Amino acid sequence: MTPAAPPDADADADDLRRPVAPPEAFALDPAIVHLNHGSFGACPRAALDAQAAWRARLEAATMRFFVVDWPDALATARAAVAAFLRADPAGLVFVPNATTGVDTALEALVEPGADILTTDHGYAACRHALDRLAAARGARVVVAHLPFPTRDAHAHVDAIAAACTPATRVALLDHVTSPTALVLDALAVTRALAPRGVHVVVDAAHAPGQLDVDVAALAAAGVAAWTGNLHKWACAPKGAAALWVRDDLRARVAPLVTSHGFGAPAATRYHAAHDWTGTHDPTPYLTAPTAIDTIAALGGGWPAVRARGHRLACAMRDVVCDALGVAPPAPDAMIGMMAAIPVALPADLPPRTLERRLLDAGWEVAIAAPAPHPVPGTPSVRVCAHLYNHLGQAEALARQLRALGVRGAPPPA
Ligand SMILES: Cc1ncc(COP(=O)(O)O)c(C=O)c1O
Repeated sequence: MTPAAPPDADADADDLRRPVAPPEAFALDPAIVHLNHGSFGACPRAALDAQAAWRARLEAATMRFFVVDWPDALATARAAVAAFLRADPAGLVFVPNATTGVDTALEALVEPGADILTTDHGYAACRHALDRLAAARGARVVVAHLPFPTRDAHAHVDAIAAACTPATRVALLDHVTSPTALVLDALAVTRALAPRGVHVVVDAAHAPGQLDVDVAALAAAGVAAWTGNLHKWACAPKGAAALWVRDDLRARVAPLVTSHGFGAPAATRYHAAHDWTGTHDPTPYLTAPTAIDTIAALGGGWPAVRARGHRLACAMRDVVCDALGVAPPAPDAMIGMMAAIPVALPADLPPRTLERRLLDAGWEVAIAAPAPHPVPGTPSVRVCAHLYNHLGQAEALARQLRALGVRGAPPPA
């Protein structure tokens, strides 16, 4: 075997200085600096065109489309998405977003009087779902504290396992946390909790595209359910996500809306019930494979897209951290294609005001706020790195933040 050539550091740095694909390839306004791919994604024009073609076909002959064409088209899209996620298509259904996926799984799995385990880095909307179900069913939400900043890429696994009580029946775990942009070890957490009789629900809203997702590995570890957005990092049109449920739980995990599919024979009911929840626009699902293929073609394959996104996210974080006078808050091993920097804000610039001020100046940047979310305690600036991003954007953002009086958050006492 010939040894691999040493990596060319200069070429690598150059590669971060220019976008792989211009914002116009994504229908993004080039006058705006787009540093928040994480919240709502961005869809390549080629996928939007493919979606328009599906819509035209649907609108031209609605009955033919839904009665004859759609079931096979959906099965084809399901198979392609399942392959991308390394998931068994038998367990995979489309849902409009990860929020629906999380709610669907929790609705079925939260047991009266039991403990529900989650972390203090969870997504606020899903935390509302936990709190609502806990109140309705007399269950208790137990929150594992995950330190942030952190120097240890594995401490969170022990912290979550330590917070598991004998009464814990469900755990909701974010694979990539939203306010702190940390990649958690979903596999290790599942391996720790599933043998204790806990139904682990992985909220992988940010994982497809950003991480090399392996639902089969999580399934082998005993995960109960997994959901992830296709409209974030995989760049599908808005309204496309996947939900995968373990074999023995499929009869139990019903869609939140009951429709015709419930009349299907037991053997086909899981797909039938989730596939049809009343008339809706299925074109985001049907277009997801085109989006996945388009990003791969633009970026030289998904491994290359992820590798550059990771290097760029770390480099962007370092640039902003340097400018604001704060150390990178987490090891690179916990970074995917986005990174959060804890900040101290001027008294007259609370997080929502800063976010709005940046928006008005043409910057799309997520500012994570600690409230109403109880923890993590400091706000953070989150930067995202997809194909249309480059390092100069982070340098300009750092200058903009400094000009607004934003500084790095002092380390916790
Ligand atoms: C961890 C997590 N879960 C769920 C969601 C919700 O995604 P959606 O609004 O597409 O349902 C998000 C969105 O950013 C998220 O970060």
